[in-house]
Amino acid sequence: MTDQRLGLIGGGNMARSLVGGLVKSGTAPESIIVSDPDDSIRQALAEDFSVQTCADNPSAAHVADILVLAVKPQVMQCAVEDIAENLLQRQPLVVSIAAGIPIASIESWAGSPLPLIRVMPNTPAVTGNGASGMYANHRVSKSQRAQAQKIMEAMGIAVWVDDESLIDTVTAVSGSGPAYFFYLMDAMVKAGQEGGLNPEISRQLTLQTALGAAQLALASDESPTELRRRVTSAGGTTQAAVEILDKKGCEKILIRAVHAARERSVELAKLLGDE
Ligand SMILES: NC(=O)c1ccc[n+]([C@@H]2O[C@H](COP(=O)([O-])OP(=O)(O)OC[C@H]3O[C@@H](n4cnc5c(N)ncnc54)[C@H](OP(=O)(O)O)[C@@H]3O)[C@@H](O)[C@H]2O)c1
Repeated sequence: MTDQRLGLIGGGNMARSLVGGLVKSGTAPESIIVSDPDDSIRQALAEDFSVQTCADNPSAAHVADILVLAVKPQVMQCAVEDIAENLLQRQPLVVSIAAGIPIASIESWAGSPLPLIRVMPNTPAVTGNGASGMYANHRVSKSQRAQAQKIMEAMGIAVWVDDESLIDTVTAVSGSGPAYFFYLMDAMVKAGQEGGLNPEISRQLTLQTALGAAQLALASDESPTELRRRVTSAGGTTQAAVEILDKKGCEKILIRAVHAARERSVELAKLLGDE
């Protein structure tokens, strides 16, 4: 970021990952201000990253050129109404990372049209390995898109979708995605233990395999289908496992699970956005 001031409304887990990533990647701490009602949260952010903090939202919104809304969805309406006057006066770029809150709801709570970006990050953001899907409304300029992307890249990769409804699919794939992999890891650790490995060894082998498979897939131009085919020799051990997965319809089950997450995201957006 250049001379732009970044404000964050809410200083919890996600805000902490974002601030940590930004400061680590060279953003000047004095250009960041975080508002949070919790004294201990503010103190920890100030101590760990030397950023400015404040207890009230308008103080952050009063100086920010880019404002990240990082409160829980349930308190978003209250937080936006709290800064509505600042938003009207300053017209900052607003970036919401709240799950399930449509852009139209934020604009209606703010009472004014705004350049607004909706982002769905995920928990690996904590280690800088997050994946965020982003959608911008038509008031966001090209340079604001680039600024927002750079900010979100402090937590991992950030990609754009061109329709807001696709944020529900992003939520289902990468937002909830870490849990699917944890589910698979859990089963593999258990299977290793059942096969005689001690729990820690089984855990290490499973987790490193997950990391290695992801890195290999990222480094390759081949699709996961092709990579899987290559490690599955006829009559071998991998084929024995894949045959069970295929016979039980695991691929279809996983696809159905992701669709269920998307449908729930649509339902939650209706509930949260209509407040
Ligand atoms: N964590 C994830 O994996 C993840 C993934 C995707 C999207 N998100 C989205 O990211 C947002 C933040 O999530 P999080 O996990 O970081 O939540 P969090 O840890 O609860 O952080 C939210 C912070 O906002 C504070 N707060 C509450 N009311 C406020 C207000 N009116 N004004 C300013 N600050 C206020 C909270 O303080 P108190 O605790 O004192 O209430 C808390 O410190 C959510 O909207 C969530 O949907 C999170």
